[in-house]
Amino acid sequence: MYESIAVVGATGAVGTLILELLEKRNFPFRTIKFLASKRSAGKELLFRGKTYTIEELTPDSFVGVQLAIASTPDETARDFVPEAVKRGTLVIDESGYWRMNPDVPLVIPEVNAADIKKATKGIISSPNCSTTQLVVAVKPLHDFGRVRRIVVSTYQAVSGAGLVGTRDLEGGTRAKLEGNNYQYECFPHPIAFNCIPQIGSVKEKGYTSEELKLLYETRKILGDDSIKVCPTAVRVPVANCHSESILVETERKITVEKARELFAGMDGVVVMDDMLKKEYPLPHFCTGRDEVFVGRIREDLSLENGLAFWCVSDNLRKGAATNAVQIAELVVNGL
Ligand SMILES: NC(=O)c1ccc[n+]([C@@H]2O[C@H](COP(=O)([O-])OP(=O)(O)OC[C@H]3O[C@@H](n4cnc5c(N)ncnc54)[C@H](OP(=O)(O)O)[C@@H]3O)[C@@H](O)[C@H]2O)c1
Repeated sequence: MYESIAVVGATGAVGTLILELLEKRNFPFRTIKFLASKRSAGKELLFRGKTYTIEELTPDSFVGVQLAIASTPDETARDFVPEAVKRGTLVIDESGYWRMNPDVPLVIPEVNAADIKKATKGIISSPNCSTTQLVVAVKPLHDFGRVRRIVVSTYQAVSGAGLVGTRDLEGGTRAKLEGNNYQYECFPHPIAFNCIPQIGSVKEKGYTSEELKLLYETRKILGDDSIKVCPTAVRVPVANCHSESILVETERKITVEKARELFAGMDGVVVMDDMLKKEYPLPHFCTGRDEVFVGRIREDLSLENGLAFWCVSDNLRKGAATNAVQIAELVVNGL
């Protein structure tokens, strides 16, 4: 049990769920503090029936804190994490800033829990939401048939952009239906009744930062730099849960029946795959769930060793808060 823990970014889309999960899963600690920006300092929140005052994040917030679970923007994590580590805090970080640092393990408990032991710098990163569900689903296929190539197209919910993303979808939709203008805060184009094939900034060879996370984070978590990934990340007007169309090419052929068996045997994966009953994973069904759902499992018509499937998961849960709390549970249990 930890004496003292902190939730950093406690007011955000992910932070709010971290509170809910710590409460629901009865995470063990003696004292807890909630940190956010100056904007939230002094506001109150309810946790385990007690009212707490949110404090402004400063380097000294971490004095005496052994464990912090953090979900803040990248630049905030860049600045505060070394300060927390300097004060002896182990940080489990949701941001993108530390994920590809060679001294920082990037962990999905069902896939590479043992990498937690490599946290020599006092930081453990939780992957990008779209990467987590991809890797959880692909892991049993890789173990059986060695994945050579992945083609992944994402259909990402607005909650992946934080509370402001949700505000934009709600405000933009209402305005469009009422014939009013809406000033979008976070998307480069209107998201209401639209799809935007750009998430993140423009990076090399015409790919975006979000797309390259699907390549580099997948390789790091699976510990295999030979895996090729062709990603396309699209923002869609869905409130919550990312969906992905995934095609994998494997060294050893995986039939549909074998794939069903491999998915069913994977921790944290649920198979929903009955076209005749119109059963397949849907954001409406998967929201609020901690698992990764797969369906529409088909052999690729264009490849000898290709398998295609559809994958949906709650980006705020397994894609963020659940994954971080699972890591914290492993750490507290001494793994
Ligand atoms: N949303 C997802 O599906 C998802 C999935 C995986 C990873 N992530 C990552 O998790 C992080 C948080 O995402 P989110 O969706 O929860 O965003 P969010 O809803 O915008 O929340 C951001 C949180 O960070 C705090 N914050 C912002 N600037 C700060 C500062 N200068 N000092 C201290 N705290 C500050 C905010 O506090 P105030 O309320 O005081 O502004 C808020 O609590 C991001 O790095 C994101 O990439 C998100």
